Amino acid sequence: MSHILSAVAWPYANGPRHIGHVAGFGVPSDVFSRYMRMRGHDVLMVSGTDEHGTPIMVQADAEGVTPKQLADKNNRIIVEDLVGLGLSYDLFTRTTTVNHEQVVQELFRVCRDNGYMAVRETPVAIDPETGNTLPDRYIEGTCPLCGTDGARGDQCDACGNQLDPQDLVNPVSKVSGKAPEFTVTEHYFLDLPALAEALGAWLDAVDETGTWRPNVISFSKHLLEDVRPRAMSRDISWGIPIPGWEDQPNKRLYVWFDAVIGYLSASIEWARRREAAGKGSAEDWRLWWSADAEDAESYYFMGKDNIVFHSQIWPAELLAYNGGGSRGGAAGELGTLKLPTQVVSSEFLTMESRKFSSSKGIVIYVRDMLERYQPDALRYFIAIAGPETSDADFTWDEFLRRTNTELVAGWGNLVSRTGAMIAKNFGEIPAAGGLEEIDAKLLEQVREGFATVGAMIEAHRQRAAIAEIMRLVGEANAYVSATEPFKLKAPEQRERLATVLNTLAQAVSDVNTMMSVFLPHSSNKIDAILGGAGDIAPMPRIVESDDLDGGDPYPIITGDYAGVRAWEPRAVVPGTPISKPKPVFVKLDPSIVAEELERHGLGGE
Ligand code: MF3
Ligand code: ZN
Repeated sequence: MSHILSAVAWPYANGPRHIGHVAGFGVPSDVFSRYMRMRGHDVLMVSGTDEHGTPIMVQADAEGVTPKQLADKNNRIIVEDLVGLGLSYDLFTRTTTVNHEQVVQELFRVCRDNGYMAVRETPVAIDPETGNTLPDRYIEGTCPLCGTDGARGDQCDACGNQLDPQDLVNPVSKVSGKAPEFTVTEHYFLDLPALAEALGAWLDAVDETGTWRPNVISFSKHLLEDVRPRAMSRDISWGIPIPGWEDQPNKRLYVWFDAVIGYLSASIEWARRREAAGKGSAEDWRLWWSADAEDAESYYFMGKDNIVFHSQIWPAELLAYNGGGSRGGAAGELGTLKLPTQVVSSEFLTMESRKFSSSKGIVIYVRDMLERYQPDALRYFIAIAGPETSDADFTWDEFLRRTNTELVAGWGNLVSRTGAMIAKNFGEIPAAGGLEEIDAKLLEQVREGFATVGAMIEAHRQRAAIAEIMRLVGEANAYVSATEPFKLKAPEQRERLATVLNTLAQAVSDVNTMMSVFLPHSSNKIDAILGGAGDIAPMPRIVESDDLDGGDPYPIITGDYAGVRAWEPRAVVPGTPISKPKPVFVKLDPSIVAEELERHGLGGE
C-alpha cells in the first residue's frame, strides 16, 4: 500500500470551465484516483481554483468587479461543475486562502535564503497615461522581423516569432494608444541554471523508469538545453505579497510561482482540516510529501500547455526549497520535499475541428453539458475518445453515436435485460447449477479484466482501459445471444436458466465494479439494480467552510472515500431480491446535434 498524491491542475477562476479543461485534468485524475483507492492505496487528491494573475484582473476589469469578487463567483461555479461531474477530490480549495499565502511565502523565503532567488533589473514598459506597467501582450507594434503591423509585445502571430516589446517598431499601448515608456525595474528571478543539474538528474531518473509519456519526457529534457533565470515576481497588484517587499504593493509573486505550490498548501490544508475534525494530525500531509516517505508517489494531471510548469518550474522550486541545487542550502520547516513521480499530461480537445474559443462561441461549458446530459455520458466520451496522447475532436454527432450505440445499446442494454430477466423469472438472483464451458469462459474473461484493465489505468492508458471494459460488455452481450435465456421456458430448462442468469448477474456486477472508476453515477445505479446499496462509487460533496486562518469563508469539495469497494471480483449473492430495472442511460434524440450546432453558431454547415 502506498501513499498516492493525485495532484490535479488548478483551473483558472477567470470564467467557467469548458469540457476541454475537464478532459485534460479532470476525468483522467478522477479515474486514476478512484482506481488507486480501490486498490487499497491512501490517495490524496487535491486541487483548487487558480485565482491570481493577469487573466483574473483583466476579466474583473471587464466585468467591473474586484478580482476577489470575480474569483468568488467563478470559484463557486467551478466547484459546482466539478462536483456535478463526480470528481472525487479529497480537497478542492483555492489560492486566495490565508493558508496558501503562508505556504507560498514560506517557500519563497527559503528558496531566497538558500540563494536561488536573485534580484535583477529588468526592462518594463509603462503606460504614460495611467502610470501602470504594461504586460507584454498589451503592447502592439510592427514586427521587426516580418514587418507585419499588429504584432504583440510577446509574439508576432504573422511570423510566429517570440518578441520582446522593446523590439517592436512604433510600439503603442493597447490601453491608451500612447507610446509606452521603457524603463527598468527590479524582480526576483529563480536561478534555474543553478538548479539545472539537479533537474537533469531527476529527469534522467524518471526517464529510466520508462513510465512517462514519451512526448512529456522528451519535451521536459529539451527544456533543460537552454535554461535561464526566470522572473518569479510581477508588476501587478493582485497576487501574493513578496516577503521583504511589502512596501511595494504593486509587485506580487508571479501567479505560476504560487499556483504550483497549491498542491502542497492544499495537502497541508487537508491535514489541518482533518485534525480540526478530530480525524488525524495536521502533520499527516508529510506522508505524501516528505522526501523520506518511501511509499509516497505523486501524479500530476494537466493539459499539455502546463507541462513546463510541472516538469521544470515546480521541481525547481522544490529543489531550491530543499537546498538541492548547486548553491546548496537547507530545507525549511516543511522538511525536504518529494519531486513529482510522474507528470501525466493530456493533449488538447477541439470541438467540431475547431479550437475552443469562448469569444467565438466555440465552447461547451461544463455547466451546459451537465444541464442537458448525464454526467456519465460526458465522462464516457472523454474516457474513450479524449485527448490522451494526441489531440482529439469532440463532435455532437460522435457524442450522440457513442451515447446511443455504446452506452445505451451496449452497456445499458446488458444491464437492463439482465435485471429484467432475473426480475421476471426469479425475482431474486438465482443460484447457479453446474457451469457449462460457455459460462465459465465468460466469467473467466471478466475476472481477467481486473488485471488487464488495472494495468492499463496504472500506465495512464485510460482509453484502452475503458475500451477493454466495453469489449467485456460485448462478450456478455454475445453470451446472451448464444445462450438465449429468453427461450429457456420449459420447466426442465429452469436450472439452466438460473445458471445463465446467475452468470450474467456475476458478469454485470464485476464489469460494473471496473466501470465505477469511469462512470461512478451510473455504477451506483447499476449496483442498486443488482440489489446493492447503490454506493460503490463514493461521491464528492460541497462543504461551506471557514478559512482556517480568519480569511473569508469558501466552499470546498471533499468526500469520504474510504471503505470503497475493492478492485477485484466479488461473488453475487443468490437470493438477493431484484426488481424490474429502469433504464440507466438516457437515449439521446438525434435532433440534439442540429440544436447544439445551432447554439454554437455552426448550424447549417
Ligand atoms: N490555472 C492553470 C491553467 O488553467 C493551471 C495551473 S496548475 C497549477 O492552465 F498547479 F499550477 F496550479
Ligand atoms: Zn513577424
